Amino acid sequence: MKQFKRTTVTSALPYANGPVHIGHLAGVYIPADIYVRYLRLKNEEVLFIGGSDEHGVPITLKAKKEGVSPQDIVDRYHNIIKKSFEDFGITFDIYSRTSSATHRQVASDIFKTINEKGGFIEKTNEQYYDESAQQFLADRYITGKCPHCGNENAYGDQCESCGTSLNATDLIHPKSAISGSVPVMRETKHWYLPLDQHEAWLRKWILEEHKEWKANVYGQCKSWLDMGLQPRAVSRDLDWGIPVPVPNAEGKVLYVWFDAPIGYISNTKELLPDSWEKWWKDPETRLLHFIGKDNIVFHCIVFPAVLKAEGSYILPDNVPANEFLNLEGDKISTSRNWAVWLHEYLEDFPGKQDVLRYVLTANAPETKDNDFTWKDFQARNNNELVAIFGNFINRALVLTQKYYEGIVPSLGTMTDYDKQTLEEFVNIKTNVEKLLNNFRFRDAQKEAMTLARIGNKYLADTEPWKVAKTDMDRVATIMHLSLQVAANLAIAFEPFLPFTSKKLRTMLSMKNFNWSDLGKMDLLAVGQQLGTPELLFDKIEDETIDAQIKKLQDTKIANETANFKAATVKENVAFEDFMKMDIRVGTVLNCERVPKADKLLKFRIADGLQERTILSGIAQSYPNPAELIGTQVCFIANFEPRKLRGIMSEGMILSAENADGKLVLIQPKVEVSNGAEVK
Ligand code: MF3
Ligand code: ZN
Repeated sequence: MKQFKRTTVTSALPYANGPVHIGHLAGVYIPADIYVRYLRLKNEEVLFIGGSDEHGVPITLKAKKEGVSPQDIVDRYHNIIKKSFEDFGITFDIYSRTSSATHRQVASDIFKTINEKGGFIEKTNEQYYDESAQQFLADRYITGKCPHCGNENAYGDQCESCGTSLNATDLIHPKSAISGSVPVMRETKHWYLPLDQHEAWLRKWILEEHKEWKANVYGQCKSWLDMGLQPRAVSRDLDWGIPVPVPNAEGKVLYVWFDAPIGYISNTKELLPDSWEKWWKDPETRLLHFIGKDNIVFHCIVFPAVLKAEGSYILPDNVPANEFLNLEGDKISTSRNWAVWLHEYLEDFPGKQDVLRYVLTANAPETKDNDFTWKDFQARNNNELVAIFGNFINRALVLTQKYYEGIVPSLGTMTDYDKQTLEEFVNIKTNVEKLLNNFRFRDAQKEAMTLARIGNKYLADTEPWKVAKTDMDRVATIMHLSLQVAANLAIAFEPFLPFTSKKLRTMLSMKNFNWSDLGKMDLLAVGQQLGTPELLFDKIEDETIDAQIKKLQDTKIANETANFKAATVKENVAFEDFMKMDIRVGTVLNCERVPKADKLLKFRIADGLQERTILSGIAQSYPNPAELIGTQVCFIANFEPRKLRGIMSEGMILSAENADGKLVLIQPKVEVSNGAEVK
């Protein structure tokens, strides 16, 4: 493996249009923080960069809705987000923002350099323009009648009634969603990054030279590369963002996904104006991006292409992206308020940052989406943190207080059992390291927890409170060893549970504190005076958990009421009309993206009789189409076949549209025979 001198760690810049929730923490910030703390404990040179992502259309819409400026919105959320990260012990070296002057400068310079090198292509095409709002309209902000099914409320990118993916120009009677006026066509020029020209080196770099990347990351990259890369526009017609820094570009700003990742660089420069370059340009620097799965293409393909086109930057060595965390079985959603917000958690559980850190790591969505439930949160706190870790530490300290007035007693003769216990202990350091080096934080934490288990079992087995009646020499040895184990726990848990580790270090009056000390049995000197014992964790009662569950249930009820009101129920249909539809169940034999169509998935379905191909406009809700293979879906079997993108589609697959706009396939919960009728 390549040897590096230092590590630059970045974590995705959250959009400053809402507070952060447990999903953000579990997927990105806790793993990054664990990793950085671990490197620091090893005295490695490391820099941890964070910040807010403050551009993009959703921020402008939120501002419009509230009647304030986009800057007001980002100022508000930048501060809330920054505080949440501080509160949870995420130890960024800098947390800055993409509306900063430094960022504007850095992003503009990178754009200019690429432009001067001929790294962009300029293209003019026609786009809808809202004359009364005086702005070009993003596809999502145009509505009209669907040319396929007649739905009056189709969007410029897709008809959600029939699932067809559309171009805004396909809509009949288009309307601006901003002003309601009829948009006109206007020519507009944009800068494109010709990703097609980067495809060859990207293929080699990722698919051949980075086979060690996590399977979810590698797989997504491969699927994008296999589809063939297209030029991507890096500018937009918008009045919020960094102006395109070339002459004759009035009204144009850099596309948010062009400027945001450059924010990592700008924030480094803001922190280290004189020495930032070594963190970004020295081949001996290892660059790591911690992100969520929806950011993979931008960090593995688009941003590296930008850096390469600029020419003087290093590329990421790894991009340990996580999948998503769900909440009580449902996708976390800001718009539906289906989330545990970090600032609210701290109001309800003051001082319990580490409990959440622990549970989120124990359940981290490292290889697949995972679920957070309040019951699991309670169980892990009560059965693991309190009953094992906390119990062990408390016993060790309280007994030392009782028998030795809090002074570390000397080590007498060790029994075979003592030696055996210490042996179990030795491997753990190597195991935790191996796991951390491979970004396997949940297993690493589990392994660290094994230390606490060993300690807890040791005290339960040796029962010093009984031995004290007959053999105080033996008690000294037991307590001596237990305290050394406790000191080891303070080191092993520092990356995971920093608040607890600190408390423990104070209680143990610990001086040595390095990763390299882990595994040693002389961390506390004989005769050393310990601090006052305090409980590390306390039990969480049912009422507390029930209150959280009730809060979520209330949210759900409120959402359902709002949803039902929002959806206008269509005219009644006769039974015979319903019976005309032939809805069946089939098994997905294959599922893949349709090249050059970003919304379409091509399904091959076993329908009970034979196989058929059906196209469905749900690609954006299923970034990993291969995972659908082998599952069952419902489809209209007698839907008139039609050609989309040159492919004959024989049916229509049924999905439900969630309140957050995501499409969710209708799938039978238990397997039924292919061809089964849905009635
Ligand atoms: N704001 C984006 C999101 O929340 C992430 C941006 S990461 C960056 O999905 F690299 F672009 F900054
Ligand atoms: Zn339609």
